[in-house]
Amino acid sequence: MAGMKVVDRDGEEHGIEGRAGVSIMETLREVDWGVAAICGGMCSCATCHVYIDPAWMARLPAPQPDEKELLQELTGYDEGRSRLSCQVQFEDSLDGMRLEIAPDE
Ligand code: FES
Repeated sequence: MAGMKVVDRDGEEHGIEGRAGVSIMETLREVDWGVAAICGGMCSCATCHVYIDPAWMARLPAPQPDEKELLQELTGYDEGRSRLSCQVQFEDSLDGMRLEIAPDE
């Protein structure tokens, strides 16, 4: 099974399974240390903000303008690493992807 390495807000790394065709947020909101995802994936709350390892960032489809706009409003925005996990679909080709859950804002 394909999976991801995710660093939580305490700096602890977890290996978790990813589900192909499903957003990363859907997987991250099922774990205690994951994301709140208050809007449920509507690209309006930014509580699913994550930092993708730059080596993997380049392999993801570029963000849509609405995602980018929301990200740019965040204090913790990092142009090279920030994504909303509800807007990133996991695929088996992303096996081993590393990401970090961004701080609460
Ligand atoms: S879950 Fe709200 S923006 Fe991603």
